[in-house]
Amino acid sequence: MKSRFTSTLLLVIVPAAILLTLAAFNIIRSLPQEDLKGKYQYKDFEPALKCRSCHPGIYEQWSQAMMSQAYTHHWDEIEYFELAVPHAEVNPALKDPVDGCNGCHTPMAYMVGKFPPPRPGEKSMANESVSCEVCHLTQRAQVDPPFNFSYFIEPGRTKYSGREPEIQSPAHKIVQNDFFRTTEFCGNCHNEKNPYGIWVKSTQLEWKEGPYAKEGVRCQDCHMPKGPYILALMGKERDDARLHLFHGAHDPGKVRGTIELRIEPDVRLAEPGENIVFTVALFNQKTGHKFPTGSVEDRIAWLDVEATDAKGKTYHLNVDKKGFEGEEYTISGDYLAYQDMAIPLKLTDFRGVQRDGIPYGNRIFRMPYFDEQGNMTIMQWNTFSQGVDYRIGPRETKVEKFTFKIPYEAAPGEMKVRAVLNYQLLVKPVADYLKVPSDESEIIMVNEHSTRVEILP
Ligand code: HEC
Ligand code: HEC
Ligand code: HEC
Ligand code: HEC
Ligand code: HEC
Repeated sequence: MKSRFTSTLLLVIVPAAILLTLAAFNIIRSLPQEDLKGKYQYKDFEPALKCRSCHPGIYEQWSQAMMSQAYTHHWDEIEYFELAVPHAEVNPALKDPVDGCNGCHTPMAYMVGKFPPPRPGEKSMANESVSCEVCHLTQRAQVDPPFNFSYFIEPGRTKYSGREPEIQSPAHKIVQNDFFRTTEFCGNCHNEKNPYGIWVKSTQLEWKEGPYAKEGVRCQDCHMPKGPYILALMGKERDDARLHLFHGAHDPGKVRGTIELRIEPDVRLAEPGENIVFTVALFNQKTGHKFPTGSVEDRIAWLDVEATDAKGKTYHLNVDKKGFEGEEYTISGDYLAYQDMAIPLKLTDFRGVQRDGIPYGNRIFRMPYFDEQGNMTIMQWNTFSQGVDYRIGPRETKVEKFTFKIPYEAAPGEMKVRAVLNYQLLVKPVADYLKVPSDESEIIMVNEHSTRVEILP
């Protein structure tokens, strides 16, 4: 009897209890593939400095890109060590997904399997981030569509490349692999599903449903452009060498001009007290995915319109409401958000920080992420649902209107009205609260355009 009871307990009650606990957290296992966690040792991999001895140019390009800093960059270190790791200590169901941060940010450390890896200041091999080895040992994606570090990697002397080398090097054997020429290669890390089953990153999926996929313009064409370059010291220059620039949102030059702006009034002459309706067209002419993409929970772009009268006095214009669902998240205002930071920071009386941190009444191009309580979150692993997607798609044009009642105090004469689209990697109130160095919340001007109207006396 007793043993039957024990086996019933083991077979039915225990799994049921586990399922219930998991359901309580609403957490599902998010790894679709053979897990490479802890499968190898550091000595199985070669450091990027070794590749540098024969590929110095490519090495220097890579070392200036975020790819080589994915583990060491200040905001990555703060979010992982001060929010994610402590959160998993409070909620053990998050341990696996939080170990998984390393699957994309420092794949070698993930495959070595000690968590958390040493902090960047300890200068361990984890600092290699997304290194030459990680990409050039990749053979394929284990799932379709690729996501959550679904790469298949086997360490060794054989490296893979998109092209057939002209000379074989004594340092390695090169095997040509068409996978390097696909966007799925990038999608292994640039698509991410979180423990709640939410796509918290979908850059490759956005690309796939956009116009560039149909034209065959891939990630590599914009982020690894072709140019004349020497691939290896003993090789010769190629006209079409793939430059390892990987420049993205952390390169202001890449962000500038991404969206083109035009503003025009409905009438050119008005008296104080009359309305002028200004229309702004925003055309995404540069990105192959949505803008912003990637770390969408952190990023905002906002449209600021200001009028300056003949005497130099300025007036801020508020965007006209369109009335779509969730629009309140796309117009800046005085709201508190990001309350869930209290869990990892172990705060008891935390009311949140300002949601936007920019002038009120501006249109924001973003997609809000919400926690289980319905508050906005920047902790993508804690995202339970997503709100309205008001980002600008590839080659999409958004149109915004600003109805402006000419103030009675406005000076007669020419009034200049200027539209500016600004961009920020991380909303400033969060950056300030977590003491993230200011370059992460610096305002980058994407574009601007002005028009003029005449104010009658
Ligand atoms: C001893 C010098 C040497 C070292 C060290 C070295 N390589 Fe190479 N590599 C070469 C040479 C030479 C070529 C062929 C260049 C050519 O065809 O112009 C090459 C080609 C390649 C290619 C393919 C280029 C093509 O044309 O398809 C890749 C990818 C590559 N190396 C990656 C690496 C990686 C990753 C490392 C470090 C783990 C590394 N290499 C270390 C010398 C070296
Ligand atoms: C037609 C050119 C083009 C294509 C194709 C393209 N991108 Fe981009 N990408 C850009 C531009 C321009 C930016 C800078 C503006 C921005 O931050 O979105 C950018 C930014 C990014 C960023 C930083 C975004 C952020 O908000 O942090 C990432 C990551 C990125 N691209 C990855 C990819 C991947 C992966 C693919 C392929 C699936 C891809 N890109 C395809 C042009 C392109
Ligand atoms: C994020 C992944 C990634 C990283 C990191 C990376 N590469 Fe590459 N590399 C690629 C891809 C993708 C291609 C091929 C692009 C294609 O064929 O369209 C490539 C091509 C090459 C080539 C051949 C160039 C050509 O014109 O085809 C060499 C050589 C090379 N890489 C060396 C390196 C070295 C050395 C490092 C480190 C300093 C490095 N790579 C880091 C993804 C990466
Ligand atoms: C092994 C995982 C991995 C692969 C494969 C990978 N990336 Fe990345 N990539 C990352 C991570 C992680 C970051 C974030 C760096 C950081 O912390 O800001 C990044 C950053 C970038 C950025 C810089 C964004 C910025 O904010 O400036 C660009 C651009 C980019 N990747 C493009 C690509 C392209 C194109 C490919 C395919 C050829 C690719 N990546 C393949 C992991 C990967
Ligand atoms: C599926 C791969 C993947 C996983 C898993 C992942 N990341 Fe990322 N992460 C990326 C990529 C790719 C980017 C760059 C996106 C962009 O440029 O917008 C990024 C960007 C970031 C950034 C923004 C960096 C910056 O400077 O703007 C932070 C912080 C970050 N990740 C932390 C984490 C933490 C913490 C976890 C685990 C809870 C995690 N990531 C899990 C791929 C991943």
